[in-house]
Amino acid sequence: MNPFYFVVQRSVYMVSTLIFFFLLSSVSPSYGYDPLDPYGNITIKWDLLQSSPDRNDVKVSILNFQLYRHIERPGWRLGWDWTGDEAIWSMQGAEATEQGNCSRFRGGQLPHCCEKKPLIVDLLPGAPYNMQTTNCCKGGVLSSMIQDPTKYAAAFQMNIGAANNSDFTMPENFTLGIPGYSCAKPVQVAPSRYSSDGGRRWTQALGTWNVTCIYSQFLASTSPKCCVSFSAFYNSSIVPCPKCSCSCQGLPGATCVKFGETPSLLQQIKDPNQEPPSLVRCTQHMCPIRVHWHVKQSYKEYWRVKITVNNLNTMKNYSQWNLVALHPNLKSLTQVFSFNYEPLYQYGYINDTGMFWGIQYYNDMLLQEGESGNVQTELLLRKDQGTFTFREGWGFPRRIMFNGDECVMPPPDQYPRLPNTGHGAKFSLSVIFFSLLLLIIMC
Ligand SMILES: *[C@@H]1O[C@H](CO)[C@@H](O)[C@H](O)[C@H]1NC(C)=O
Ligand SMILES: *[C@@H]1O[C@H](CO)[C@@H](O)[C@H](O)[C@H]1NC(C)=O
Ligand SMILES: *[C@@H]1O[C@H](CO)[C@@H](O)[C@H](O)[C@H]1NC(C)=O
Ligand SMILES: *[C@@H]1O[C@H](CO)[C@@H](O)[C@H](O)[C@H]1NC(C)=O
Ligand SMILES: *[C@@H]1O[C@H](CO)[C@@H](O)[C@H](O)[C@H]1NC(C)=O
Ligand SMILES: *[C@@H]1O[C@H](CO)[C@@H](O)[C@H](O)[C@H]1NC(C)=O
Ligand SMILES: *[C@@H]1O[C@H](CO)[C@@H](O)[C@H](O)[C@H]1NC(C)=O
Ligand SMILES: *[C@@H]1O[C@H](CO)[C@@H](O)[C@H](O)[C@H]1NC(C)=O
Repeated sequence: MNPFYFVVQRSVYMVSTLIFFFLLSSVSPSYGYDPLDPYGNITIKWDLLQSSPDRNDVKVSILNFQLYRHIERPGWRLGWDWTGDEAIWSMQGAEATEQGNCSRFRGGQLPHCCEKKPLIVDLLPGAPYNMQTTNCCKGGVLSSMIQDPTKYAAAFQMNIGAANNSDFTMPENFTLGIPGYSCAKPVQVAPSRYSSDGGRRWTQALGTWNVTCIYSQFLASTSPKCCVSFSAFYNSSIVPCPKCSCSCQGLPGATCVKFGETPSLLQQIKDPNQEPPSLVRCTQHMCPIRVHWHVKQSYKEYWRVKITVNNLNTMKNYSQWNLVALHPNLKSLTQVFSFNYEPLYQYGYINDTGMFWGIQYYNDMLLQEGESGNVQTELLLRKDQGTFTFREGWGFPRRIMFNGDECVMPPPDQYPRLPNTGHGAKFSLSVIFFSLLLLIIMC
């Protein structure tokens, strides 16, 4: 081989690796901004429907405007601070967890909740009809926009009043009760409109406020919750999840269940309002979720990938799970077996990211660790002329997220490699081109 060509090829490869690393670090959604879902938020909408000096009717809606993050059981627990001495007299479609001290309303019927900081939970499915409202009673679960656009919202109504008659004032300090979300101050927006008489007449709220809540993986947890391993038909070595991806065996607080053991009954506390504790199988990565990407087969014009998601959490079933993957060849995805798929392209022209999720009643529940604690799919992708190659780990994903949280990837220099021959430059140039394109878009 021409030595000059070799040097050029090497440096091109190094530069592209650097850019790749830079990209990985710059697209991290850890601080609340997610380039894959730039407008993603959960909006709490507060509509003042009726107002009289002593009583106000309010409708509160919680809308999950996130493309791929959903809210699982035990669900949202909405909280706020009243600015005065308001009490909630009645509530439909949800309930306050505590009634609190209502002694200031002695005599007659007592309010539903007199707490200064009420905490509201959704009713469970099948709640009595007279306690329901439209969109209520899902046990706090909210689907993502892509997975099930009909179940992304929750709503409840309440009647509030103060001991002293006063005008309505908007409460403050909203919280969703889900790790990782922080909510901004309420902002008064154009009043909500409601259609009646089949759309011939519109009524409107007396006032509407929005509270926007944003997710940050870093706020939710400082340690990752999933990792990625690789293999390929052309190389017999399996690249495992990086050691200590989520925690390290032997660290204080890092408990795990050895293979063959069952978790002790003491740890299986069943409180429906609490997130089940995480107790993982002992592995060198200690993650509750492992995603394995196997480059399975090569055909003349197509290639095949198998993705397996393993649940290593011995205490948790993941309902409505989803997986987001970034790979440049996803734009030529031809067929997906046994998962649903939807491309996520927020920038119109790069179509390299997509979301996978389970098929209802078949594999939309990722069961707790054990023989059936996994879901899998195979993808058939068309080899794109000019970019496709098995060299330099091109066949492996650039990013993987499980339930909206970034997974830890093996370092690029460990990717399964083809035995050496010599045409890598084409690949490297395309990576550079691609990386620069992405960089330009991100800045
Ligand atoms: C929240 O999401 C909705 C829907 O995508 C969007 O219209 C709204 O502007 C977002 N709000 C913020 C503050 O980003
Ligand atoms: C909201 O939270 C801030 C900071 O914790 C606190 O100072 C303020 O009093 C709270 N607002 C109300 C109405 O309690
Ligand atoms: C309940 O609230 C009243 C005033 O509204 C107060 O006097 C009383 O001490 C409170 N009781 C408790 C147990 O906090
Ligand atoms: C109610 O109003 C009276 C007088 O208008 C006032 O003295 C009292 O502090 C008020 N109570 C509360 C809880 O704001
Ligand atoms: C307020 O929230 C509603 C969601 O119900 C959204 O349609 C609207 O765009 C939001 N307004 C602002 C100003 O963010
Ligand atoms: C997970 O689902 C299986 C089958 O439906 C059930 O037997 C098991 O108890 C569930 N585990 C948890 C932690 O809910
Ligand atoms: C994006 O990719 C999907 C397959 O992954 C394809 O069905 C869709 O047509 C592509 N869209 C564009 C605009 O290229
Ligand atoms: C498989 O890939 C590894 C890099 O992860 C490399 O060290 C090894 O030489 C490759 N094996 C073969 C047969 O090429």
